Amino acid sequence: MAKLIIVSNRLPVKLQEKEGELIYKTSEGGLATGLGSIYKQGDNLWIGWPGMVIEDPQKQQRIADDIRKESMSPVFLTETEIKEFYEGFSNETLWPTFHYFSQYAIYEQQLWETYVQVNQKYCDAVVAQAGPEDTIWVHDYQLLLLPSMLRERLPNSTIGFFQHIPFPSYEVFRLLPWRKELLEGMLGSDLVGFHTYDDMRHFLSSVNRLVGYGSMHGWINTNNRSLLVDSFPMGIDYEKYSSTAATEEVQKREQIYRGNLNAEKVILSIDRLDYSKGIAQRLKAFELFLEKHPEFHAKVTLLMLVVPSRDAVEKYKELKEEVDELVGRINGKYSRISWNPIQYFYRSYPLETLSAFYRMADVALVTPMRDGMNLVCKEYIASKSDQKGVLILSEMAGASKELSDALLINPNDINQMVEAIATALTMPEEQQIAHMRNMQESLQRYNIHHWVSMFMDRLSYVKIKQLSLA
Ligand code: UDP
Ligand code: G6P
Repeated sequence: MAKLIIVSNRLPVKLQEKEGELIYKTSEGGLATGLGSIYKQGDNLWIGWPGMVIEDPQKQQRIADDIRKESMSPVFLTETEIKEFYEGFSNETLWPTFHYFSQYAIYEQQLWETYVQVNQKYCDAVVAQAGPEDTIWVHDYQLLLLPSMLRERLPNSTIGFFQHIPFPSYEVFRLLPWRKELLEGMLGSDLVGFHTYDDMRHFLSSVNRLVGYGSMHGWINTNNRSLLVDSFPMGIDYEKYSSTAATEEVQKREQIYRGNLNAEKVILSIDRLDYSKGIAQRLKAFELFLEKHPEFHAKVTLLMLVVPSRDAVEKYKELKEEVDELVGRINGKYSRISWNPIQYFYRSYPLETLSAFYRMADVALVTPMRDGMNLVCKEYIASKSDQKGVLILSEMAGASKELSDALLINPNDINQMVEAIATALTMPEEQQIAHMRNMQESLQRYNIHHWVSMFMDRLSYVKIKQLSLA
């Protein structure tokens, strides 16, 4: 029977060693949580890295056997590959460039060569598992070369590619020394998907100017085949978030947390520790808010969850120090015996805890400098059973294109952020409910299942169309 093979750098579970025992934990990040709800259907398979260096072949085999039962197959990366492919080219070259932080990007030939070699490793892993009727769905910037590598080995296969992060404008993308190779890698797909129309346009413009292929309504004709480029804004498993938030267990937790926080109003912020998320800028805006609005002292608390991420990469280490310092400074300046303006946690949480936090938050402050989509803001909305709460959302997040009922801000405009916080904290309940209801309706409809079927239907359509064009 034909199956769907999902390929991404990271599997939806990650291995950790505790007291000599290997344990599996859920991975963080929108790709893993978003697709986590669908890959176990039928004979589907998810191929990726289990998040830890495992060198012992016996241990590798045991892990492969274990996770095979959960519809996953591992690709093991060596220490050097993690350093040069994952931390290096993926997260010090591509990530900053694609998020418009090209001043943070490094360009090193050695990192590129390892990126090519690891993409090849993923290609071998897929070829070992793929049958002729299978659909292969490659995800994200760590595997941009994989579609073409697969096309060479399996010329007639069905290959979709989806990018979860922004695609930058040509002026930024062209800074990469390997720009043409990267585009050619993606062009091995039958369908290339992005979260937003703008990302798609930027990609088409780079293809046109760097590879020389024009496009018509998203169709690109290469020398020997046609492929389609389109936008598919990713949704969440709405049902999972709304039903979890409605459980007694989560409601009980919410009560306890609220009691412990001792604040009339709670503002929530949740991100991986990443400069693209605008965490430092958000803290500075909260500091200015406290300065300008003393009437909120001892009344409002910012509950800030920061999930450790890529902590071996220099810019992430620096950001951790900056965030620690800012939180210390602001709390030092404004705290009272019975009140801390910021409650800061540097760790990850299970779904039920996140759900209680979402329920509890009067305001969600989601202010990335750039974000492909941002699922946290969607999860907040889905968790609001009583429809009370306000979302402050950056215009630079893909989600802002869908969520026009949020208070939209430019994260570079600190005064606008301060005003939005004050507006959100004083918004009448009827207004909160009206906005929340609109956003809930749209997210309920355009959920993760809708997203997957839109992409898959489009991919089947491309295959049929290719036959008629051949
Ligand atoms: N998340 C998590 N554990 C945490 C905090 C966050 O699993 O302690 C999840 C969160 O629920 C969301 C994802 O991490 O689904 C973050 O996705 P988003 O698209 O907002 O940002 P990304 O991290 O992918 O850039
Ligand atoms: C974002 C990326 C994913 C990545 C996730 C977590 O969501 O789009 O590809 O998996 O962040 O980052 P990590 O480096 O831990 O895999």
